[in-house]
Amino acid sequence: MIMKILILLAFIYFFAVLHFIYWYPELRWDWKKINLSNIILPKSFYWGTATASHQVEGDCTNNNWYAWENNFTSDGSSKIKNNQISGNACEHWKRYKDDVKLIKNLGLTHYRLSLEWSKIEPIKGQYNEEAINHYIEVIDYLIKEDLVPVITLHHFTNPIWFEDLGGFEKEQNIKYFISFCKMIFPLFSDKVNTWCTINEPEVFSVMGYFAGVFPPGKKSPQTTVEVLKNLLVAHTKVYHELKKMPNGTNCRIGIVKNIMQFDPYRRWNLLDWIVCRVTNKIYNDIALDYLTKGTIKVNYPFFIKLNFSMRSAAYATDFLGLNYYSHNHLKFKMDKYEFFENAYMENDILTDMPYTIYAEGFYRAIKQAAKIGKPLIITENGIADSKDDRREIFIRRYIYAMNKAIDEGINVEGYFYWSLMDNFEWAEGYDMKFGLYEVDFKTQKRTLRKGALAFKEIVNAN
Ligand code: GAL
Repeated sequence: MIMKILILLAFIYFFAVLHFIYWYPELRWDWKKINLSNIILPKSFYWGTATASHQVEGDCTNNNWYAWENNFTSDGSSKIKNNQISGNACEHWKRYKDDVKLIKNLGLTHYRLSLEWSKIEPIKGQYNEEAINHYIEVIDYLIKEDLVPVITLHHFTNPIWFEDLGGFEKEQNIKYFISFCKMIFPLFSDKVNTWCTINEPEVFSVMGYFAGVFPPGKKSPQTTVEVLKNLLVAHTKVYHELKKMPNGTNCRIGIVKNIMQFDPYRRWNLLDWIVCRVTNKIYNDIALDYLTKGTIKVNYPFFIKLNFSMRSAAYATDFLGLNYYSHNHLKFKMDKYEFFENAYMENDILTDMPYTIYAEGFYRAIKQAAKIGKPLIITENGIADSKDDRREIFIRRYIYAMNKAIDEGINVEGYFYWSLMDNFEWAEGYDMKFGLYEVDFKTQKRTLRKGALAFKEIVNAN
């Protein structure tokens, strides 16, 4: 009898695996047959580049990242690669006018930048006029130079006072972020049309509370989803509050979501599939479901449990900002906390970050994001490539992939390359070279990379 059951189970497994392998193959295009030189985008399509305050401005000495970078152990090591600190960064705070020339030189029309909350509100409830005036000057200068600014209100950094109160771990702290946004909005709402509330809630929560490589360096699956939920709630509340303010209904307010794909390393292994389902749920579906249904339902016994609903969250975003960088092959591992690992295929071409060049993934992510039924803006996409020997192919293939999704009817309005110039890449420090422009951090000289010429060419042809 037992033998019969085992044979039956083996059969079921065999057919289930066949089903997965044949009906759900991993999307792969034959790049040899694809013409990358003929990319024509809709007339209204716009092009830009993106940065974030902490990564480029310099002198961010009052936020959680500053504290994290400068938290050295007695042997002089920190949580950042080679113990680097952001320090002066690209000195974009004082060099922004020159940087505007760099943006224009590429033929771009849009610039996505973030406002540094910790500079604007260094002490709870006290605003710094110099910082506010600085951002007013920057925005006015961009407009004068015919560039369209897109503002991000939160890009990974919290003021230290906010972090000390428990940051986004505590739902009751959301009110502080709302007050900051309500103070900022009227300053720019008559001249800035597109607003991003929060950049990548899933990256912020997973890296800071699951992987422990971003501040505050915790490793708790349950806290990860609580923080993610609070960031999503913060978006919803900010959205509704700003909509009530003058110009609120004219402005477009959205959230920025990073989408990653997870494919099983071994397509015959059901455990690898299960791991992909779980990670996709936490990393992608929680936010996408929340943005459409206003609910979060996760229940993985002994691991994560969260049931939440907020009716006003459904469709409370005017667009979805999509950041796309990577696709992962996951392999199941017997470990309660790190129950999977990333694995690489023989022919994978990697960027300097451990991501594969897989433009089909960008196409898949656009389709996945489109399910929320809102216009999409590619708020970030780019490659870390210090040798500059993969940037051109990356740019051509990824823009091709985006164009294919547009041709198939997806509403993608614009594309922002990450990043204008090399900058402080969080836990990786300055080693990752994402810039269209290379930065010599000793002299602050910016030099256009050869690989970036492909981007300039596509932008100017469209
Ligand atoms: C994103 C993030 C950016 C930048 C980029 C490159 O997740 O929003 O700030 O660091 O990754 O890795």
